[in-house]
Amino acid sequence: MPKPKVFVTRIIPTKGLDIVQEFCEAEVWPGEMPPSPEELLRRVRGVDGILSLLTDRIDAAVMDAAGPGLKVISNHAVGFDNVDVAAATARRIPVGNTPGILTDATADMAFALLLAAARRLAEGAQYVKDGKWKTWGPSLLLGADLAGATLGLVGFGRIGQAVAKRAQGFDLRIIYHDPTAEPAFGAVPVDFETLLRDSDFISLHVPLTDETYHLINAETLAKMKPTAVLVNTSRGGVVDPSALEQALRSRRIFAAALDVTEPEPIQMDDPLLALDNCLIVPHLGSASKQTRDMMAYLAAQNLVAGLKGERLPHCVNPEVYS
Ligand code: DGY
Repeated sequence: MPKPKVFVTRIIPTKGLDIVQEFCEAEVWPGEMPPSPEELLRRVRGVDGILSLLTDRIDAAVMDAAGPGLKVISNHAVGFDNVDVAAATARRIPVGNTPGILTDATADMAFALLLAAARRLAEGAQYVKDGKWKTWGPSLLLGADLAGATLGLVGFGRIGQAVAKRAQGFDLRIIYHDPTAEPAFGAVPVDFETLLRDSDFISLHVPLTDETYHLINAETLAKMKPTAVLVNTSRGGVVDPSALEQALRSRRIFAAALDVTEPEPIQMDDPLLALDNCLIVPHLGSASKQTRDMMAYLAAQNLVAGLKGERLPHCVNPEVYS
């Protein structure tokens, strides 16, 4: 029997790639950069499965270019806003993602960013490199304390809860806004307005949807404390970048630390890059060796299950099975 044909849009860790290559006739995009949209349309022609990354837009045109034989789309990420899930569901194509295994890594990153922004680590490191460190100064680069401060979590799913768990150890008071989540780790549910008003630190843990697009905007930033620190490890599109730039520049809020931006990658002339009180890292939330290995493994498991006509272990549109 011929092996199913798949297109893998980047070289993923061998923990997943080996499984894909054993079971499939796989074309793996070799570039460091993702395939262009035109290249993607060309490469998927006639495939049975696609293993995509969050940098690939998998829309109806891509599905149609693959053709009626397309049995599965496996996204190498927990987020799946890059996939038109409605279009996949309409074609009865299951879409897989990689939940759970990147929870701790992403929560660690959120907490690292929170601490870094609170204690001005990036500014401090730059200060030393610039040769400005002449003496210990009583008022040099003063930051914010965590103990006794309030952390507001927007979204209280797996990652939000893992951040709450870490925050308990730092003696933060924890509040969250997520109408779908039960309290856990000492976190108290509040409405969104209360969260904006009362939080010293705000960390975003919502998926990017039509409802959450630019949830953090000029209006919501204006409701935050002037001492507030905003942390985003979710998706760049949850924050309106120009509103954030204005809020940071005018010291309407104290600082922001972003693992994700809109667009990604951030353009080098983006005014956010010129701000001392904005720390930006290149979407590294899940970037630990073990986590990326497991993401590749789960993505491969989803892909192979879909090719075999089995239910995906992690399916974002299970309605395709009903
Ligand atoms: C995901 O899996 O959605 C993460 O953003 C990757 O780091």
